[in-house]
Amino acid sequence: MQPPTLSLIGTTPRMRWAWTAAGVLLIAGWVHRPASAQEPAIFRGADLKLGEELIAQHRCAQCHAEKVGGDGSAIYRPLGVINNAGLLRGMVEQCNATLNFQMFPEEVTAVAAVLNRDHYRFKD
Ligand code: HEC
Repeated sequence: MQPPTLSLIGTTPRMRWAWTAAGVLLIAGWVHRPASAQEPAIFRGADLKLGEELIAQHRCAQCHAEKVGGDGSAIYRPLGVINNAGLLRGMVEQCNATLNFQMFPEEVTAVAAVLNRDHYRFKD
C-alpha cells in the first residue's frame, strides 16, 4: 500500500524522473546564482569583521553623528552623489587620506564593504 500523499506526487518511473529533474534544476539554479546579484565585485571576499573593527576604532559614527545627529548613519546617502561601489570605496579612501587613518587598501575595501552591506546596498 502506498500512502495517499505519495500517489499525489506520482509513482510511475516517468513521474519520479520528472520530479527528480525538477528538483535538480531548482537546486542547480540556486547554487549557480551569480554572486554579483548580491555584492559588487570589488567587495567580494572583503573582510567584513575587520571592516567593522576599523569603523569602531576610527570612530566614524561618532564624528558623523556630530554632523547629522542620531547614530550618524544619516550621513550615508545611497541616493546621493556616491551611487556605486567604486565611488563608495573612493570616498572611504578619501576620508582615510584626509583624516590620516593610514588604512591599507584591503582595510579601506573592508570598511567600504561593511558600509555597503549596512547602508548603501549597491549591487555593482
Ligand atoms: C572627523 C570627522 C569624521 C570622521 C572621523 C569620519 N568622517 Fe566620514 N564624513 C565626515 C563628514 C563631515 C562627511 C560629510 C561630507 C559632506 O558630504 O559634506 C563625511 C562623509 C562620509 C561619507 C560620504 C557619505 C555620502 O553618502 O555622501 C562616507 C562614505 C564616510 N564619511 C565614511 C567614513 C568612514 C568609513 C569613516 C571612518 C573610517 C569616517 N567617514 C570617519 C566626517 C568624518
